[in-house]
Amino acid sequence: MGDPAICDFVFGNPHEMPLPGLVEAIQRHAVPENKDWFAYSFNEPKATHPIAESLASRTGLAFVPEDIFPTPGTFGALAVSMRAIVDPGDEVIFLSPPWFFYESMISILGARPVRVTLRSPQFDLVAEDVRAAITPKTRAIIVNSPHNPTGRIYPKKQLDELAAVLKAASHANGRKIFLLSDESYNRILFDGRSFVGPAASYPDTLTLYTYGKQLLAPGERIGYIALSPSIGDRDDLREALFFSQVVGGWQIPSVTLQRAVSDLEALSIDIGALQQRRDRMAEALTAIGYEVTLPEATFYMMVRSPIPDDRAFTDTLTEHDVFVGPGEIFEMPGYFRISLTANDDMITRSLPGFEAAFKQARG
Ligand SMILES: Cc1ncc(COP(=O)(O)O)c(C=O)c1O
Repeated sequence: MGDPAICDFVFGNPHEMPLPGLVEAIQRHAVPENKDWFAYSFNEPKATHPIAESLASRTGLAFVPEDIFPTPGTFGALAVSMRAIVDPGDEVIFLSPPWFFYESMISILGARPVRVTLRSPQFDLVAEDVRAAITPKTRAIIVNSPHNPTGRIYPKKQLDELAAVLKAASHANGRKIFLLSDESYNRILFDGRSFVGPAASYPDTLTLYTYGKQLLAPGERIGYIALSPSIGDRDDLREALFFSQVVGGWQIPSVTLQRAVSDLEALSIDIGALQQRRDRMAEALTAIGYEVTLPEATFYMMVRSPIPDDRAFTDTLTEHDVFVGPGEIFEMPGYFRISLTANDDMITRSLPGFEAAFKQARG
């Protein structure tokens, strides 16, 4: 997508220069102060302490540094945590529309992915639907809030209801069901909204995070797993996670990035500017005739395809140099996804293409 004529709304990739604060933090922490600066290093207190403090202050839960496991983003956090808790033959529930990789990341462990569909039109998380999918083999459920691609923040009530179902099923099964909370976008919130994650409702939650979104630097691989302060079997879990980090191929971020965490914690892309971009795009597309769902959070905006075949419509858009994600790849047929990480110039240039494609599709 290097062609400057192209308007690229496909992935949450940067289309502007990186945050200067990020560059400075990496430069500062890369300069060795002793011979061990780049030695093999594990979970660095320089990372685990500020992460635990930040989580505690944002959630009101007493997270401790010993329960923080730095990982290469949420991607690494998912791989490490699932390898630590899931056995071959187990079942792991994921919610559809899902993030692209959940299903294959479950399958590669020899476990069975079990899909539960979020309820249209608002993509609600209905605890009864999860209950119906639970079997004695269920070991974990992945919950993604704020949700990619719908931009939904799951309300505390839906998370409480889910927690009640998981507690009852864990008890009945005689084996704990873990909740893996993919919170990659928990700091990309619009319209002054706040975020409460599943850890506030369910004790056996592992919070998974990446700094790749708040910094809009997905190539700098840093994030973490955080065990909830109320989680059971803590010592076994700590051991299993650390073992999984190491034998999983050293799933521990670089020492430079771990040392930079205290700086990264305070850094973010401009959420106000992102929100303005969302509003500008939504207004312009609505004026053309598109049906737009305004996201509550995340980088993404779902738009209804003007014809049922979203793949055919996104092909039409590409004829006008506008690239978006067809809904079928997110298990949302009839929609397409726009990443708001595009720059303002791209948005301006894309609007005639969006208009021409709409008219073409509607004949
Ligand atoms: C819902 C969700 N989970 C996990 C990830 C992975 O994030 P990272 O590559 O920063 O680890 C992404 C990235 O797109 C995502 O959207």
